[in-house]
Amino acid sequence: MKKVTAFIGNHQKHSTYKAVCEFERNLKAYGNIEFEIVFLKDYQLEYCRGCKVCFEKGEEYCPLHDDRDILMEKMIQSDGVIFATPNYAFHVSAPMKNLLDRLAFTFHRPRFFGKTFTAIVNQGIFGGNAIVKYLSSMGGNFGFRVSKGCVLTTLEPRSEAAQNKITREIKKASARFYKDLMRAAPPVPSFFRLMTFRMSRTSIQLMLDDKSKDYRYYKENGWFESGYYYPVSLGLVKKMAGRIFDGMGKRMVKRS
Ligand SMILES: Cc1cc2nc3c(=O)[nH]c(=O)nc-3n(C[C@H](O)[C@H](O)[C@H](O)COP(=O)(O)O)c2cc1C
Repeated sequence: MKKVTAFIGNHQKHSTYKAVCEFERNLKAYGNIEFEIVFLKDYQLEYCRGCKVCFEKGEEYCPLHDDRDILMEKMIQSDGVIFATPNYAFHVSAPMKNLLDRLAFTFHRPRFFGKTFTAIVNQGIFGGNAIVKYLSSMGGNFGFRVSKGCVLTTLEPRSEAAQNKITREIKKASARFYKDLMRAAPPVPSFFRLMTFRMSRTSIQLMLDDKSKDYRYYKENGWFESGYYYPVSLGLVKKMAGRIFDGMGKRMVKRS
């Protein structure tokens, strides 16, 4: 049994909600899935005030006391997470962006390793691909394995051909997501992800100390010594690239 949670960024049970329900039906046809739909509108989530306390001292010191941790706990308890949002003014909806802002400390201290993420974006006409790309990058920053998402053009009234295209896209995306959800081993990082890890940890190690939450988090996780966030066989080329990224990180710190 795998648990999947879909976070929906708009208020109405319109095409985004319907797409998520279709995704759920497909997943349940593939295997044993427990599926939860979370409408962000049903949770109290204040706007980030930009104090950066979460980055520096820790998320537990955030001055906002709302449902942030309930939402994060839902992610922690899931094997798979879906972010579903309409395209509003060429971006994610405001509640979805607010969630990302409030969880931005996770980019410093990623934690969702071994879990799968995907994005579903509904659009009227144009701009959805850039939003899927953006959300996929956020999912990667959180630590998820990212499964390629989908963009659905959901203008109404809709022809039968347009509806069939939507159904096909959801089917393909849910099949990809299910396959990724069932993978046992976490992915080998791309060069970009490896570089991000190695350069961040070098600068954290050289510039910060025990007073910093990031420093303690890296230390507790053994990340100052490891090749990547989690045990993975990097292969010769990536091992060498990792050393080069370490050196680049050191030079960057010296220059700063
Ligand atoms: C405030 C607002 C802004 C929108 N901006 C865009 C946009 O930039 N590009 C686009 O293709 N569609 C845009 N749309 C259309 C929605 O993305 C589209 O209708 C989508 O299907 C809405 O999702 P829903 O059916 O789940 O409500 C916008 C809609 C609203 C209400």
